[in-house]
Amino acid sequence: MHLTFALFAITALLKGSSAYPSNSDWVTEHVKRYDGFSDNLAVRLGSYQAPGPNDSRGPCPGLNTLANHGLINRDGKNLNSTEIKLAFPRGFGIAEDAIEVALHNWEVVCEYIKGTTCGTAANDGTFILTNLTILGEPHAFEHDHSYSRQDYRQNWAHGGITDNIYFNSSEMQTGLDVVGYTTSNPPKVAAANYQQFNDIRLQRESIQNQRDFPGWFQQNVPPTLFETGFIFGATFDRDSSGKMKESTPMARLKWWNFWFSEESFPTQLGWVPASTEVFNSHFCTSVSSAVLNAAVTSLPKSLPAGATATTFPPPANLPEGDPSPTLALFQSAPYAAATSPAAIKSAAAKRGLLAARENQASTLTLPASVSSIVASEVTAKPSLILAAIQLAGAAPPKFNLYQQSIDTVTLKAQIAAAQSYQDLVIAKITSLASVRGRV
Ligand code: HEM
Repeated sequence: MHLTFALFAITALLKGSSAYPSNSDWVTEHVKRYDGFSDNLAVRLGSYQAPGPNDSRGPCPGLNTLANHGLINRDGKNLNSTEIKLAFPRGFGIAEDAIEVALHNWEVVCEYIKGTTCGTAANDGTFILTNLTILGEPHAFEHDHSYSRQDYRQNWAHGGITDNIYFNSSEMQTGLDVVGYTTSNPPKVAAANYQQFNDIRLQRESIQNQRDFPGWFQQNVPPTLFETGFIFGATFDRDSSGKMKESTPMARLKWWNFWFSEESFPTQLGWVPASTEVFNSHFCTSVSSAVLNAAVTSLPKSLPAGATATTFPPPANLPEGDPSPTLALFQSAPYAAATSPAAIKSAAAKRGLLAARENQASTLTLPASVSSIVASEVTAKPSLILAAIQLAGAAPPKFNLYQQSIDTVTLKAQIAAAQSYQDLVIAKITSLASVRGRV
């Protein structure tokens, strides 16, 4: 089988603040009459319920939101493709043509991981997707430099694989910082245009290129750009029927931050689903191209090669075929917003709760194989990593399912070489740290 090229706020919303209508007022006042879904947003969008420890969530803020609102199975498991096709237009107002490639690629990832078909018994072209978490399979569909998630190898030297699946407020803030967005009420900056999103996108690449375990960052611009189209489509300024108010879409930052951090629809901030006439595949690809071609104000340092290219192939289907080698998925309870969206108290309290939760998650993942002395030495002396890499030699070539034409045997060999290189670097770090520890 050949794996050819593939695919591609919390605002300081004080309870009872007069800045925004309450959730129920907004729902009562706003109706949608044009696309066949209920006029009543409370009916159309269901009610938010945080996931429990046995529920499945993944790296996609769109799908997690649908599950938190019960528009697909709340446990995030055994999801029928036909239900997803209905739930996205219902929840976000996104037309079905914009999710076809993503849905297909999810089926392929499902089959890679299960090693067997994910199609339904009826064999009618529909499929049952095992759960949302398998979407976190590193570098299959998931990719580095996400807007709101860490990278798989980001904390490798500090204790193995990183949580590349769940929302991380610190990562999200690195993007918001680029446009000076803070969670004050009202926010200092209301919306980001194409150029500002290109700035954010490049900043994320630069930061992650520096943070990832050296040599392991993988650039994947096409899916990031298509997801940027999703962000613009989900958050452009709109009238009560979901049509764009502006002539060129801009991403409303308080909606973006609320949606990602709460994994819920920002109705209490005046949001309604987009019109499916606007938010379709053409919209997403147009935004992708406009963001990519927007001249940036300045280039961040340590950008990976190719980051500023202005053309990339469009998203494409992953080929169906034999199972690919799979890497271990991050295992932990799913992310649940620290407060339920209807009961947000203050931005500061919320940030504290989020930080506590993220710290807990990273503590849980520390494997015994990396001693704490190494982790603390690495934190205190980043030069240790550089010294270890000099001793270990150059990293072997990286695999990249988005950009390579590669057969399964070669791919397995590349992963094995990559893992033994990491083991070698970790061993060098350990030995350097223990030598320094004795001094
Ligand atoms: C069946 C359809 C879909 C599938 C299978 C899917 C899957 C995924 C996956 C695997 C990622 C992780 C990429 C990464 O590593 O950052 C992702 C990210 C994302 N998805 Fe979806 N997605 C789908 C549809 C949508 C839709 C319709 C929206 C918008 C309403 C959406 C919004 C996003 C956004 C904004 C991100 C980027 C998150 C970030 O960078 O932090 N997705 N999706």
